[in-house]
Amino acid sequence: MKMETSFTRKLGIAYPIVQAPMAGGPATPQLAAAVSNAGGLGSLGAGYWSPAQIRDAIREVRRRTDRPFAVNLFVPEQTRVKATADEIAGMNAHLNAYRSKLGIAPDPAFSSFAPSFEDQVQVLLEEEVPVFSFTFGIPSPEAIQAMKQRGIVIVGTATTVAEGIRLEAAGVDAIVAQGSEAGGHRGTFLSEAANALIGTLALVPQLAEQVSVPVIASGGIMDGRGLAASLALGASAVQMGTAFLASPESGAHSAHKRLVLSSAEDATAITDVYSGKAARGIRTDFMRDMSGYQGAIPDYPIQNALTRDIRQAAAQANDPSLMSLWAGQGLRLATEQAAADIVKRTIAEAQAAIGKLSGLAGTGGV
Ligand SMILES: Cc1cc2nc3c(=O)[nH]c(=O)nc-3n(C[C@H](O)[C@H](O)[C@H](O)COP(=O)(O)O)c2cc1C
Repeated sequence: MKMETSFTRKLGIAYPIVQAPMAGGPATPQLAAAVSNAGGLGSLGAGYWSPAQIRDAIREVRRRTDRPFAVNLFVPEQTRVKATADEIAGMNAHLNAYRSKLGIAPDPAFSSFAPSFEDQVQVLLEEEVPVFSFTFGIPSPEAIQAMKQRGIVIVGTATTVAEGIRLEAAGVDAIVAQGSEAGGHRGTFLSEAANALIGTLALVPQLAEQVSVPVIASGGIMDGRGLAASLALGASAVQMGTAFLASPESGAHSAHKRLVLSSAEDATAITDVYSGKAARGIRTDFMRDMSGYQGAIPDYPIQNALTRDIRQAAAQANDPSLMSLWAGQGLRLATEQAAADIVKRTIAEAQAAIGKLSGLAGTGGV
C-alpha cells in the first residue's frame, strides 16, 4: 500500500521516506538504490567527490535501480572563505601532534581545499539526475535554471524559517527542515550556527506554515512514530540519516556503525573542530581536545581539508577517537536492519501509529 503525499506525487515514489545524503562514505550507491527500490528516495552524498567519482556513483545507482534518486552537493559559502597562511600554519602545528601519533607526515600540502562546485553541478546536469539536493546555501540562479530546464527536482536545506523562505523564493521544489537533533553538518547559511539550533518539532510546523512547497522533516526521525509525527506537523516526507547508518548497505566505517548501535541519546555534541562548520557527531577525544582551540579553527572547507589525513589514518588504524562519527540524537533507535527493511518497517509502524491516533479522535481520551 502506498502512502501518498505532495512529495511522493511530485516524484512518483511510493513512500515519503528520503534516505539522507551522507557524504564521507555512508551513502553508497548500494544504499541509495536499496532505498529507492524499496519505494523511498535514496540519495548519494556527493559533496566531497570529484566530478569523475560523482559520475561513476550515479551510473552505479542506475545499474541497480530505475527508480528516482537524489544527488546532494555542498554549496560553497557566498562570502569568500579566508584563512591566512599563518592561521593555517598555526592550526597545522596543533594537528601535527595527532599526525605524529598516527605516523603520518606533518604539514600536508593542498592544491585546493574542496572540489569545484560548478564542475560537480555540470555532472549532475549531464547525467540528468532525477533529484538535486543541496545544503550550506543556495546555488546560483543559473544553476537552478539549468536544473529546471532538464526537469530535475530541486531540494534545498533550511535550519530556520527565514532560510526556507529564501529557498522557496530561489525556486526549489521541496525543502528539508533540518532540526537540531540531526546528525552531520548543519545546513545553516543565514544565521550564526549557534542561533539556528531549532528542534524538528518546533521547526517543521513553523516552516510548513510559511512556504507552499513540500517540507521534508529531518533530525531525530528513526522509525514510523517519527514519520507519523512529522506528517502531523505538516511535513510531506521525512529525511532519515542515522536510521540507515548501521545498515549493511551503508559504507560507514565498522567502528562508526558499532558506536551508533551502542550509544545513547546523550552521546553526541555539535562541533566545528573537524571541518570548520558545525556538525553533530558522537563525542570523541579529538572533539574534546580541539575544543580548546576555538577561535583558531579555519572556516569550512579549509579545516575539513586540514584534518582529512588524520581522519583517514585514524579510520585505517581503527581508532574512532580521532574519526568524525556524525550521528543524530535518535541513537538508541538505530538498528542494523537492511535498508529495504528499515523502509518497510517505518511505513508499517507509521500506519499503525496513524491508525491508533485516529482511534483516539473523538473519544476524548488519550
Ligand atoms: C553521517 C552523516 C552524514 C551527513 N552528510 C550529509 C550530506 O552530505 N549532505 C546533507 O545534506 N546532509 C547530510 N547529513 C544530514 C542529513 O541530511 C540529515 O539532516 C540528518 O541525518 C537527519 O538527522 P538524523 O541523522 O537524526 O536522521 C548527514 C548526516 C549524517 C548522520
